[in-house]
Amino acid sequence: MTASDFLPFTRPTIHEPTIEAVAAVLRSGWITSGPKVREFEAQLSALCGGRPVRAMSSATGALEVALALAGVAAGDEVITTPLSWVATANVVLRAGARPVFVDCDPRTRNIDLELVPAAITPRTRAILPVDLAGLPVDRDRLYALAAAHRLRVIEDAAQSFGANWAGRMIGSCGDLVSISFHANKNITTAEGGCLVLNDAAEARRCELWRLQGVERHGDSWDGMDVTLAGGKHNLTDVAAVIGLGQLPHLAAFTARRRALARRYFARFDRSLGCELPPEDYAQCNWHMFQVLLPETADRNLFITRMRAAGIGVGVHYPAMHLFSLFRELGWRPGQFPHAERIGRSTVSLPMFPTMQDRDVDRVIAAVGPALAGSARP
Ligand SMILES: Cc1ncc(COP(=O)(O)O)c(C=O)c1O
Repeated sequence: MTASDFLPFTRPTIHEPTIEAVAAVLRSGWITSGPKVREFEAQLSALCGGRPVRAMSSATGALEVALALAGVAAGDEVITTPLSWVATANVVLRAGARPVFVDCDPRTRNIDLELVPAAITPRTRAILPVDLAGLPVDRDRLYALAAAHRLRVIEDAAQSFGANWAGRMIGSCGDLVSISFHANKNITTAEGGCLVLNDAAEARRCELWRLQGVERHGDSWDGMDVTLAGGKHNLTDVAAVIGLGQLPHLAAFTARRRALARRYFARFDRSLGCELPPEDYAQCNWHMFQVLLPETADRNLFITRMRAAGIGVGVHYPAMHLFSLFRELGWRPGQFPHAERIGRSTVSLPMFPTMQDRDVDRVIAAVGPALAGSARP
């Protein structure tokens, strides 16, 4: 097997005109936030039903700004899922607030909205749901719950750009929506993200939180004030131009991912005892194709064997309340049995738009033998 035979679990698709556009920005003399960022924001806004969108250097930064905009501060609580990239809860801690985890729905692997009311206290300020693997959380139930309890919603839609809820594109409705353009995401700027906002006033405050709280005013050259302790989250034009090269392909990328998911479902050997994700070709953007291994399988051994067969496999994610940081805050094993089981057994099989049908077949052919050799002693 040569290095080029190795099938990674994901791979960005960057077209030649995008590479040329990056070179043109680099030659232009204006490489940080400028006209390309504004153009990228305008195109994102058009995709999000005209809502204001501000580009950020990461979705982690977008979440930090969203929490600030929602007024989340020391002593507050934010309800979220234990099954996400740790950024989702780290940002809550960095705001001085407490992440309050509730278990997942074992079918969708997303936050179980039934369990949210019991977790609400007088200190709860917001719900922070995650569309894991690009499968949207039920937006109707989510917003009914938020309205009933007067809570803000910060959608961690890092993985669900291109997905929709009941035909409405994620980002085109709801409260604050944070999207990632990290290299592994369905649309990338290498590193980057954006925040979708409710109105122009909120977008203006977002700009202040994004870049040091600096306000420039008046028509003089030296009219400058600082009104809040903002961060440093602006996207560069170099990155924005990559995003501009990606957006025209969003629909085709999503369609291809759905077709690959269909093939996985059609070919997967159900006798192996793996749990497949919900079979959704209408709403999910298939950011990842995740299966749960049988409890009898040693996941590390399975991944080792898949890699030996030339196939990359990811783990997204261990249940985060079991990380030392969160155990120190009092979270314990056994509190979220569904998230813990999923976190122990989940694997992400290769899924990216330039994958060929025969690549899926190669993965399917490798899974059985890899599992057979991975039984726990
Ligand atoms: C669910 C989730 N939330 C937040 C993030 C953070 O995104 P970024 O890497 O753009 O900061 C990610 C990125 O992997 C993610 O998957």
